[in-house]
Amino acid sequence: MNLTGCTLTQITELYRQTRQYSEQLCEPLAIEDFNAQPTVEVSPPKWHLAHTTWFFESFLLEGRTEYKPCNGQFSYFFNSYYHSLGERVARDQRGALTRPTVAEIMDYRHHVDEAVIKLIGEGLTDKQRSTIELGLNHEEQHQELLVYDIKYILGHQPTFPKYNDRFTLQSDSHSDGKTAIEEGIYSIGFEGSGFHFDNEKAAHRHILRAYEIDNQLVTNGEYLEFMEDGGYSNPLLFHSDGWNDLQERNYRHPEYWIRKDEEWHEFELSGLQPLNLRAPVKHLSYYEAWAFAEWKNRRLPTEAEWEVAAQQPDFSYGKLWEWTESAYMPYPGFRKPDGAIGEYNAKFMVNQLVLRGGSIASPKNHVRRTYRNFFTLTSVGCSAE
Ligand SMILES: [Fe+2]
Repeated sequence: MNLTGCTLTQITELYRQTRQYSEQLCEPLAIEDFNAQPTVEVSPPKWHLAHTTWFFESFLLEGRTEYKPCNGQFSYFFNSYYHSLGERVARDQRGALTRPTVAEIMDYRHHVDEAVIKLIGEGLTDKQRSTIELGLNHEEQHQELLVYDIKYILGHQPTFPKYNDRFTLQSDSHSDGKTAIEEGIYSIGFEGSGFHFDNEKAAHRHILRAYEIDNQLVTNGEYLEFMEDGGYSNPLLFHSDGWNDLQERNYRHPEYWIRKDEEWHEFELSGLQPLNLRAPVKHLSYYEAWAFAEWKNRRLPTEAEWEVAAQQPDFSYGKLWEWTESAYMPYPGFRKPDGAIGEYNAKFMVNQLVLRGGSIASPKNHVRRTYRNFFTLTSVGCSAE
């Protein structure tokens, strides 16, 4: 979401649309789905709806004499990871919050919306304007996380219920195309105007050796070949930590692959489907992606290699997040914002790797070649916070 050059009326409309879309994403759910937290990496849909509201309340409305919070405890319930803003419900206890109810959370959303829209109508300082812009981008990030978490919740029901048809990758993929990049000095990171997250700055020069990179995603069919060639049983293909993770969690196929009637199936948000061998393989941990590359005698790209390749017209991206070899670290010249908002990205710049590209569930304006997503190495696509 980019508010550069927008009038107050346009900001109001973009605010309304963004907030309504989060609620629309929850419309196909049963009321029982809103509170489910089947694993700690998943946040209940109700929590996402409340937390994105808390963000506007905490960073924009709090402290204004004319704003009356609808419940003083919500800051404790729905703060995610902002230690400088006080105590919060532990992450693994979010699903235990059966109260406030879904209806009360919807009232909370509308209470805050009314106050924000009133504030916009009265005129905005530059700081308020940039806080609204960040809050909308934050909400869009949670809209994507909502889709991941809904998939996990429904995909772990014995009945594999359908959500909708919107988030299934229909296009077939093949991986025989390559993009070649010459050795040179390239600019990496966000330059210019328009919204970007702090972790995309500062643009800087980066030396790359010549390389070739696949310009299409790996398919389920190719990944099945790796499995049938004993990929998961070959310790030579895995990092030590990856091999240990395989033994501890005892998995031998991608998340959401299900063996049924002696055939592979995959749970999609459209329900349980026969495995489409020509569709891109998804929900791999970093360790699985790395092992597959090792098996192919290839390697994963660095984030700089990915970003430069993504400038080429034949390079396809935006369907799935793609693991890179790069540690999630600050770029040269990075400076975290002052105050609690400094906790947004900077404190996660350790022990995580960068993913690039965007997914079918990403808001369109988040699919840009400088966007840096990041996850822990064992993650297969559940919510961060
Ligand atoms: Fe958040």
